[in-house]
Amino acid sequence: MKNGALKIITRKKKIPVSFSLVVLILFFKFVAPVVAVDSSEKFSVIMPADSSMVEGDLISFVIKVNKSNADTIKITRNKTEIASFTHLGSLSRGKDYLCKVVSLEFGPNEFVIDALEKGGIVETKKLTVFYRSDISKRFSINPPEFRRNPFHKEDREVGCMKCHRTDVSEEDMKPAKPEGSLCYPCHKMITAYRNVHGPAARWACLTCHDKNTRPVKYTTVKPDRDLCFTCHKEKKEEWKSKKYVHGPTATGKCTICHNPHASDNEFWLRKPTWDLCTGCHEDRASGSHVIVGFGSSTHPTRGRPDPSRYGKELSCASCHNPHASNSKSLFINDADDLYDLCKVCHKNK
Ligand code: HEC
Ligand code: HEC
Ligand code: HEC
Ligand code: HEC
Ligand code: HEC
Ligand code: HEC
Ligand code: HEC
Ligand code: HEC
Repeated sequence: MKNGALKIITRKKKIPVSFSLVVLILFFKFVAPVVAVDSSEKFSVIMPADSSMVEGDLISFVIKVNKSNADTIKITRNKTEIASFTHLGSLSRGKDYLCKVVSLEFGPNEFVIDALEKGGIVETKKLTVFYRSDISKRFSINPPEFRRNPFHKEDREVGCMKCHRTDVSEEDMKPAKPEGSLCYPCHKMITAYRNVHGPAARWACLTCHDKNTRPVKYTTVKPDRDLCFTCHKEKKEEWKSKKYVHGPTATGKCTICHNPHASDNEFWLRKPTWDLCTGCHEDRASGSHVIVGFGSSTHPTRGRPDPSRYGKELSCASCHNPHASNSKSLFINDADDLYDLCKVCHKNK
């Protein structure tokens, strides 16, 4: 940063004024805002960038605290406080970065970051991150001002290397324990859920994320299906043999419904099954569709034990296969005849 500025000043003597002006303007327009830290500011938000679009439910804040009297920094998301850092006065030099992973809600997440001094706000910054998702009808399309902004490019990682390891070693392919993985210190929150997918639980992140891709590192094979089927071979055969494939499964984007890492829901689903299905099939939320033509009563689709699956609750997946089936309505038992489906649970009817 300092070197860059010096270079321009020394060159100024030899180069025509108009040209060095252009260089200076370019410098301030494109270079300066990225790295320069205005020393009159109490803090600067290095990440995330304003107007980023993401498709995962977590985002990292990296905040650099300048020498100032601010003692606390607070982060609020959509008006709710979600993180705070206190006792900033005692931060020593070289420890002036605050790193924190926070969760997101679907759609726009408006963050307000306040610096406080003895309880009073002395500086405020704002930024918005958009969490796009195919399972949220309202937020499945991101407004054009929000853009994908991948982090893992060599030039963006540089600022972190003072405190974090960023180069993959042999052990990272198959770490003996989570803490041994290069990814762990920054991404430990990714597995902090009730159910964790086998390879993520072992922090074998690099079995799915390719360490050799550039300029963006760690991308995955697309479509997801091709990645998932490298391990779930039996599912590939099973679903390929069926006549009908469910719309979203047919796109090959398994991560529409499944978080590839972990979730509080079974099968690492992004929402509990019933909410997941009705997110797209809003008209089915009433449950009345099952017995249309069988009188006025409606059939439950949740909130009761599932007689066909011990220990589980009734849900849309009790009757429909979310992936594929030989029946057009995607019945779990491939039934063509409606009554064959009923018999799965109503043995005496
Ligand atoms: C001054 C040192 C320092 C710098 C510079 C730094 N970090 Fe950190 N960061 C830390 C420490 C210390 C932790 C806590 C590590 C741990 O728990 O193992 C951490 C944790 C994190 C976490 C996890 C936070 C959480 O809530 O789980 C992320 C993400 C992170 N850093 C990203 C970054 C990124 C990206 C950069 C560069 C833009 C960066 N850090 C630069 C010191 C630093
Ligand atoms: C220095 C901290 C740090 C380390 C180490 C790190 N990551 Fe990240 N990673 C981040 C941050 C910050 C983001 C941006 C998303 C966010 O805000 O959480 C990110 C994003 C990603 C993304 C989304 C695409 C992108 O580039 O934004 C993938 C995939 C990823 N990391 C995989 C990995 C894997 C695999 C490892 C280990 C080999 C790893 N990361 C190590 C900090 C880190
Ligand atoms: C590197 C191998 C590997 C890859 C790739 C992989 N999985 Fe898995 N998966 C496993 C293992 C091992 C298990 C069983 C252990 C467990 O339950 O976590 C599993 C279990 C599952 C289960 C639960 C199955 C059950 O019957 O309980 C689901 C759902 C799942 N994976 C989805 C996916 C999806 C979606 C993808 C692609 C994004 C994928 N997997 C890619 C190894 C893999
Ligand atoms: C079973 C394969 C698999 C494993 C194992 C795996 N990932 Fe991923 N990961 C994916 C897929 C698929 C995506 C979605 C990529 C996309 O569509 O852009 C993804 C996305 C991400 C993202 C972007 C944010 C998000 O949630 O979508 C981060 C960060 C990430 N992975 C980090 C990790 C880390 C750290 C590990 C090790 C604990 C890991 N991954 C293990 C398959 C995997
Ligand atoms: C429309 C949402 C959706 C999509 C898309 C989806 N799944 Fe699933 N998946 C589910 C649900 C819901 C369950 C739980 C079903 C149950 O309760 O029996 C499940 C269960 C699973 C299981 C464990 C149970 C079983 O059927 O063996 C695996 C493995 C799995 N999915 C893999 C995948 C793969 C691989 C893809 C992409 C080809 C994919 N899924 C696409 C919703 C989906
Ligand atoms: C991401 C959106 C999405 C999600 C989530 C989703 N579906 Fe679908 N579903 C579709 C699309 C698109 C079709 C294709 C037919 C259509 O346009 O109605 C479809 C078709 C179906 C069909 C067959 C309808 C027909 O006319 O062929 C059934 C049954 C169904 N879904 C049940 C489910 C169940 C059960 C779940 C939850 C496990 C679920 N869906 C989750 C988007 C979704
Ligand atoms: C008890 C079994 C059962 C449950 C639970 C159930 N369904 Fe159905 N579903 C059926 C039957 C039977 C039909 C075909 C008759 C009809 O169209 O009313 C059907 C039809 C459908 C269709 C239209 C398929 C077509 O061929 O046009 C969709 C979409 C659908 N269900 C989605 C859902 C969703 C979403 C849920 C969860 C909220 C759900 N179902 C729960 C039994 C069930
Ligand atoms: C996956 C299991 C399952 C399937 C398949 C199923 N049902 Fe049910 N059904 C239930 C459960 C659970 C109840 C609620 C029983 C209770 O509350 O005691 C129920 C209740 C009913 C009731 C009584 C309604 C009420 O208000 O109590 C009728 C009628 C009914 N089902 C008809 C059908 C018909 C017709 C089909 C086939 C199209 C069918 N069911 C398929 C599980 C199922």
